[in-house]
Amino acid sequence: MTRPNGAIYMDQITIKAPDDWHLHFRDGVLLPETVSATARCFKRAIVMPNLIPPVTKREQALAYRERILEAAGPGSDFNPLMTLYLTDETTPEQIKEAASKIIPAAKLYPAGATTNSEGAVGSIEKLFPVFEAMSECGMLLLVHGEVADDNVDIFDREKEFIDQHLAPIHVCFPNLKIVFEHITTSEAVDFVLQTGDNTAATVTPQHLMMNRNDLLSGGIRPHNYCLPVLKRNVHQQRLREAVASGSHKFFLGTDSAPHTKQAKENPCGCAGCYSAWGAMELYAQIFDELGAMAKLEGFASIYGPMFYGLPVNRETVTLIRDSWTMPDIIELPSGESIVPFYAGQQINWRLEL
Ligand code: DOR
Ligand code: ZN
Repeated sequence: MTRPNGAIYMDQITIKAPDDWHLHFRDGVLLPETVSATARCFKRAIVMPNLIPPVTKREQALAYRERILEAAGPGSDFNPLMTLYLTDETTPEQIKEAASKIIPAAKLYPAGATTNSEGAVGSIEKLFPVFEAMSECGMLLLVHGEVADDNVDIFDREKEFIDQHLAPIHVCFPNLKIVFEHITTSEAVDFVLQTGDNTAATVTPQHLMMNRNDLLSGGIRPHNYCLPVLKRNVHQQRLREAVASGSHKFFLGTDSAPHTKQAKENPCGCAGCYSAWGAMELYAQIFDELGAMAKLEGFASIYGPMFYGLPVNRETVTLIRDSWTMPDIIELPSGESIVPFYAGQQINWRLEL
């Protein structure tokens, strides 16, 4: 059977094992939950450093990695890749000391842009010596691409960031590899497509599946609130076209970011969607809807390692067309709970385990 666009209808697909190039595990008692949810289907993950206190130095990143490996368990082959949290105090020496196979990247959060970013970067221009060092030692720059300026409308903050900061950084450091994380706008798609091979972007399931109506129409839905915030439908469509095109500049990064139910369902609710329980299945559903299943493997398993200069995983995974329902709630041993992304909704693909 074929789809209107000529794509073949599939009931199952086997692809090289995928990796998640952007997520949040948190720390301590949450690790057994978050690490096993991700290691269920991803072989590697780029782990965000916005802990309290943040992961700003090599030793902290290595110690955090050990805690993640311990949570993964002795039999696991899961490989967490660590990132440094840039601050106004980060030095080129700290970058050179940290840059390695297991700390391949550093993360730029404009101070105040998102969760636990208060101590991050106040002056991006002052960090240019750090970018120089990163460029020299091949460390990737991962950016939360939004200006943290209350005078700028929240729906325009990504576009402003491109104009004010990202384009100048790329011009000054053409050899610096930059990942524009969790992109949400057509301007971000344009930026990545119009710049050379040293820029790429990650795209989350929520930004491909939803737009701001899913956040605000018919009532506020705090579990769909993340940063950068969901945008207009036209931007969502542009992201969908970008991933369906099969361009190697767009790859998988869930931004899976757990917060407790209480912290999300709150007068000042936290930003973040905990998608790890169904991430790969949701991407399969999206690519299926787009008639682009043949492009799923590149997005999920090939273009990420290619950009990071790492080998593609040797193992494979199989996804089957089979429906299941995302649980309404995940109970934690602490007595707290998390409402997963897509809670209570039907997913049409299942990962064969
Ligand atoms: O929605 C988000 N949640 N966006 C971010 O940038 C951070 C993340 C978190 O840490 O919860
Ligand atoms: Zn994130």
